[in-house]
Amino acid sequence: MLLCGIFGCISSCAPRVIADGLKRLEYRGYDSVGVAFISGGKLVLEKDKGMIDPFVRRLGLSNMSAGIEIGIGHTRWATHGAPCKENAHPHLDCTGTIAVAHNGVLENFLEIKEALIKRGHRFASTTDTEIIPHLIEEGIQEGLSLKSAAARAAKMIRGSMAIAVLSSAQPGTIVCVKRESPLVIGVGKNGSYCASDIAALMPYTDTILQLEDDQVATITRAGPSIETIDGKPVKPKFTKVRWDAGMAERGGYPHFMLKEMHEQPIALRDTLKLPSAFLERASRMMEGRVYLTGSGTSYHACLASSYAFSKLFCMDIRPVYSSEFQDLLCDLRGNTVIGVSQSGETADTLGALRHAKSKGARVIGITNTLSSSITALSDTYICTQGGPEIGVAATKTFLTQLVAMDQLMLHAASVANKLPEGVCSKLFEQLNGVPSLVERVIGQLDAVRPIAQKYFSRRSAYFLARGINVATAMEGALKLKELSYMHAEGYPAGESKHGPISLVEDGFLCVFIAPNDSSRGRIIGNMMEMKARGAKIFAVITEGDKELKLIADDTFEVPPVPEFLNPVVYTVPLQAFAYHVAVLRGLDPDKPRNLAKSVTVM
Ligand code: AGP
Ligand code: GLU
Repeated sequence: MLLCGIFGCISSCAPRVIADGLKRLEYRGYDSVGVAFISGGKLVLEKDKGMIDPFVRRLGLSNMSAGIEIGIGHTRWATHGAPCKENAHPHLDCTGTIAVAHNGVLENFLEIKEALIKRGHRFASTTDTEIIPHLIEEGIQEGLSLKSAAARAAKMIRGSMAIAVLSSAQPGTIVCVKRESPLVIGVGKNGSYCASDIAALMPYTDTILQLEDDQVATITRAGPSIETIDGKPVKPKFTKVRWDAGMAERGGYPHFMLKEMHEQPIALRDTLKLPSAFLERASRMMEGRVYLTGSGTSYHACLASSYAFSKLFCMDIRPVYSSEFQDLLCDLRGNTVIGVSQSGETADTLGALRHAKSKGARVIGITNTLSSSITALSDTYICTQGGPEIGVAATKTFLTQLVAMDQLMLHAASVANKLPEGVCSKLFEQLNGVPSLVERVIGQLDAVRPIAQKYFSRRSAYFLARGINVATAMEGALKLKELSYMHAEGYPAGESKHGPISLVEDGFLCVFIAPNDSSRGRIIGNMMEMKARGAKIFAVITEGDKELKLIADDTFEVPPVPEFLNPVVYTVPLQAFAYHVAVLRGLDPDKPRNLAKSVTVM
């Protein structure tokens, strides 16, 4: 289950600003949309199922701004109740004066809802969220302020929440509460804002405050005042964001994904500039048994890194899917768990890390989002420098995760004196050379489109490789299936004959990652097995490999890459393949169906 977005503002032209803010959040995935404003002292609510653009157009939100200076907006990804107009947020109390937008999942909502119904409250939706405005309504009736009523409601509820509350009785204020789900507050020249992520605030301010768990913010045009839900005042801690607004725009590319693929060399260069103090602190924690955990693409980064650690240092580091972590591992005393996540908010990964801590492990977080739940939970963290990634498909953040772990690995090896000095500096040199290799590959990506053109209407594909590139193959398959909805599986090539090969028939697409290394001979054997059954072979090979050019139907050539860095470079043409297949199938690669950028529920 996935994450929606909240955007609230207190500024002139509030409807236009909110419409724009929701657009910036739409990449997170949603099924319905809604807004609430105060206009002429009254609360006005509009919501509907479906997309933001037609909603904004139908209401004329962008032009409907005169005199409206406060409002909240929401994009919903249904967790409780169908994606329909009634269930869209914001939700109201019985008096119709209090509106609440919520992101998250409430655990004890049923019992609270039953009690509220017994006390005479009427419900208009089947969401968990709707209990919140009714609980606040009761607080107000008992004489509490909006802030105290919201805090009291939050204390009664178990579960995750980022909420924005608007009331016509207090028309210059938005009250926010945060627990587990992310929420940031921004203060700019023209007003104050709250949103589910920093990227949504970029056009309005670079001064932001990350609300922490169980804090309540009372936001007015001048800015927020913060308290804990127990009413203890908290000094607001603002930070300046370095990302400029233009960075989150498409910058001339037809899709964010393409833009983000082209940003990979710079993202890698930035990540290679990580302060060594962070890396050293983390590497000193790498004693004892080490586990790597993540979900989806981030798990693939873990898998690749486990091969790299093993190959270079004979270090046996185990990659574990975050969603499987607590079922697999029970005693982690003295161990280290490295949690890898682009968003830093993935519920499965957070769950794995919480479990790890409770079982006695030390936790290192690797995220692309500095102020995220995972960095907050970790004993120490490394922040990849991918910048905002808007496309739902992880591209540049995957590559930066790989090089962040490579750096950690090399630091750990030198701290533990695992390698002779000369070898270590050679490996660092190779690592520092990887952005240029990726740049060269990106310069040749045009060659991928005609290959995608040949295969885009296939029903199925296998991605096969050996060693560290099993991770590359799995990532290539994930990219293809999530963007183009073509059935795709990534396997170790040696496994293909133990079952998967039974699907292969005339014209079946097999994508091989086939660098000129020690696995090449065995990979050729697997290619021949597939060809013998009529498969079409698209192979990503080392520049100038004439033999493989003859065997495969299509090839993409990459420059020679040190083995431990293979996934960083070989993934890039596979990203491009998935992108082109999606576009050729008439799909929007930035917003695949059923997916969202951050998966914040287990
Ligand atoms: C990647 O393209 C996917 N959208 C998805 O698998 C993603 O990598 C996964 O949900 C983990 O996200 P995270 O890195 O933010 O934790
Ligand atoms: N649980 C709430 C609902 O289903 C919020 C979902 C969300 O975060 O979008 O409406």
